Amino acid sequence: MNVMITGISSGIGYETAKLLAGMGHNVVGTVRRFPIRRLPGVKYVLMDMDDSQSVSDGWNTCGAFFAHQLDVLFLNAGFGLPGAVEDLTGEALRHQFQCNFFSQQQLIRSYLAMNGHDRVGRIIVNSSVLGFFPAPYRGAYCASKFALEGMLGALRAELQKTNSKVLVHSLQPGPIKTRFRQRSLKEFEDHIQPSTRYASDYEKMRGRLASRHWDRTALEAKQAALKVEKMIAATNNTVYRMNIGTQIAWFLRRILSTTLITRIAAKGNP
Ligand SMILES: NC(=O)c1ccc[n+]([C@@H]2O[C@H](COP(=O)([O-])OP(=O)(O)OC[C@H]3O[C@@H](n4cnc5c(N)ncnc54)[C@H](OP(=O)(O)O)[C@@H]3O)[C@@H](O)[C@H]2O)c1
Repeated sequence: MNVMITGISSGIGYETAKLLAGMGHNVVGTVRRFPIRRLPGVKYVLMDMDDSQSVSDGWNTCGAFFAHQLDVLFLNAGFGLPGAVEDLTGEALRHQFQCNFFSQQQLIRSYLAMNGHDRVGRIIVNSSVLGFFPAPYRGAYCASKFALEGMLGALRAELQKTNSKVLVHSLQPGPIKTRFRQRSLKEFEDHIQPSTRYASDYEKMRGRLASRHWDRTALEAKQAALKVEKMIAATNNTVYRMNIGTQIAWFLRRILSTTLITRIAAKGNP
């Protein structure tokens, strides 16, 4: 199978590229700069999801690698920009959305234009538990992943209307042990002017993001890669909720009032 994965320099993307290439799939992965540790059998293409021209150039290069026959598009690249909603500038929010939402839609659009609806195809999107459940100081990230989930729902319905053979899956992980938190800390320092109102929670948040300690429910990136491999064999549109916390959150989201959801969310880690 021909598989394209965005963001394979580390974490879930890296482990998925490694797993699928090891199984003999033809994997093309995108990175922002060429990595030092290259995976055997994987082809690398430059793509910066902050820049729509780079996304378009990277897509064209990938197309040449798989002769415009792409079986699986795994949209994995993404990051979180933490900070209270009232501390988010428009520029910070646009920065979050450019990578986590606009570039994803750009690639989905390019994929459908290339693949058409008659050929079997598969889009897998790395979303999050924060794509359906709120958490404090994650307003920008939640907004980008909720928006992504909303768009995927609409897309699935459109594809069904046209009897398309393209399937759309979303992976909704809870905490996974990757570089995600380190990157979040850097995003916070680069983009947020902390207001004093949240000073003590921001201090706790910095400590948590800098820590090497993960809570007991955090999973390894390899486990996410195994889920992606399962999705490649799924015969229907699917949503995979990883981590026990994600499954509980999904259940609570369906049965509780906004008041109770807010109470639970407010108890979450800063
Ligand atoms: N880890 C978690 O707890 C968790 C939970 C739920 C969902 N997720 C989702 O999982 C996905 C993968 O994250 P991860 O946990 O594997 O974290 P990670 O180790 O930080 O990997 C993120 C990957 O995305 C790439 N990336 C980030 N921003 C990019 C940009 N603007 N342009 C191009 N590439 C970019 C990174 O490249 P660079 O090395 O160049 O930055 C890296 O390859 C993300 O979409 C994230 O939202 C993660």
